[in-house]
Amino acid sequence: RGGPTPRATSSTPPRRPAPALADDGIPLVPTPPLAPSTIDPDGVRVFRLRARAGTTEFRPGVATPTCGYEGAYLGPTLRARRGETVRVEVVNELLQDTTLHWHGMELPGAADGGPHALIPSGGSSWPTWTVAQPAATLWYHPHPHGATTAQVLRGLAGAFLVDDPDGRGSPGLPDEYGVDDVPLLLQDQRLTADGRIDEETRTAIGPLGDVVLVNGVAGGCLPVTTTRVRLRVVNASPARVYALAAADGRDLVLVGTDGGLLAAPVPVRSVRLSPGERAEVVVALTPGERLGLVSLPPDLGLLPQLAGTYGAAGTLPLLELRAAAELRPSPDLPATTAVVPPADAASAGGERRFELSAGRINGRTPDPGRIDLRVPLGATEVWTVTSAHEQPHSFHPHGVRFRVLSVGGAAPPPELAGWKDTVYVPPRTPLRLLVRFDQPADERTPFMYHCHVLWHEDQGMMGQFVVDPET
Ligand code: C2O
Ligand code: CU
Repeated sequence: RGGPTPRATSSTPPRRPAPALADDGIPLVPTPPLAPSTIDPDGVRVFRLRARAGTTEFRPGVATPTCGYEGAYLGPTLRARRGETVRVEVVNELLQDTTLHWHGMELPGAADGGPHALIPSGGSSWPTWTVAQPAATLWYHPHPHGATTAQVLRGLAGAFLVDDPDGRGSPGLPDEYGVDDVPLLLQDQRLTADGRIDEETRTAIGPLGDVVLVNGVAGGCLPVTTTRVRLRVVNASPARVYALAAADGRDLVLVGTDGGLLAAPVPVRSVRLSPGERAEVVVALTPGERLGLVSLPPDLGLLPQLAGTYGAAGTLPLLELRAAAELRPSPDLPATTAVVPPADAASAGGERRFELSAGRINGRTPDPGRIDLRVPLGATEVWTVTSAHEQPHSFHPHGVRFRVLSVGGAAPPPELAGWKDTVYVPPRTPLRLLVRFDQPADERTPFMYHCHVLWHEDQGMMGQFVVDPET
């Protein structure tokens, strides 16, 4: 099968103007556009994503250099159903090498877009795979070794929604894209005096911004026209951990996490999201109501004197939900949302330990020529992940979804009880994960496991594994 037809490099760099404003001058939070797709003669759904450099007006009148897919900042939302084969023509129009990783997607290593799948500047790649997992909010971002922080911070990230084959896959949940079902990509950012994104000011976990952008807009509002709205929140920040909550203290209804819907909706005061994690929450509003969403100081399990280092000390505004004077009634939330089997460690064939410490996993720094683990295809294992020092991390293995068996010996809270692919790792607290390996990966394009604090990843908290059909 041939690749995408080479196209002439697009000429004018994309520019994103300052956001549109509500009547009172508050910027409107845009919904990322749905990526167009075509069906090729083999029935494959084909998307195209060009990584491009451009400028974005975060401050009125100031053109900040940014990157995006099919635009100046962030990327469109890809959407496909389980069972569909998809191909994404990825074109690298940046002046530097990149890769494109499908975070949370269960797919073979050859399509995973990890650091081995480098797309040179001016080059392209066309990963193809069959979507084989339940409805979920996934995302995509670059993964070039050592340069992931800078590329993501400049805006290379987007959402990928997986639907069940029989439709949107979530009866009773709001599912009209851009109306009552909206992805929200969170990225914190700091601009330098001359209007560039500050990549140099770092704490121990990398760059922490002074504002939080939601879909690229700080201090924005999202108009709501229905009595319930479903927000698919993606922590696309390099380092910051959020505790998503309503400003007035009401509960949010959590319906899904990284790898799909929970068994049943569960009211929660706040949802902690470390880099790479996602949460789907449903918020009920009354006509005319305005409700702020904020990030509370997250419970990080840190020594108290470290809270400042992690930006965990104060409450940060995210956006304001603004209900219209008249709202279309949404259906009641369903009592159950998905079948989530109990996580049973007895099904595991083996056990492995991962000790995270400064720049290392199990004492090793990464070596692209070394395979750290081999796992037989179809195996189920218990992975025990521990931060062996006073710093927290965010652990993410590629190509799999997992379940959390326990956190420091205790049963997981609701936000960790469903399917996950990324998890916050508090200091000195072992997490036991039940992982099944259903996708193959060989030595040429192995899967990664790493800290999703992108600066730690860039510094080498990463290992690689193959999933072997032979054994
Ligand atoms: Cu979201 Cu290896 O990454
Ligand atoms: Cu880390």
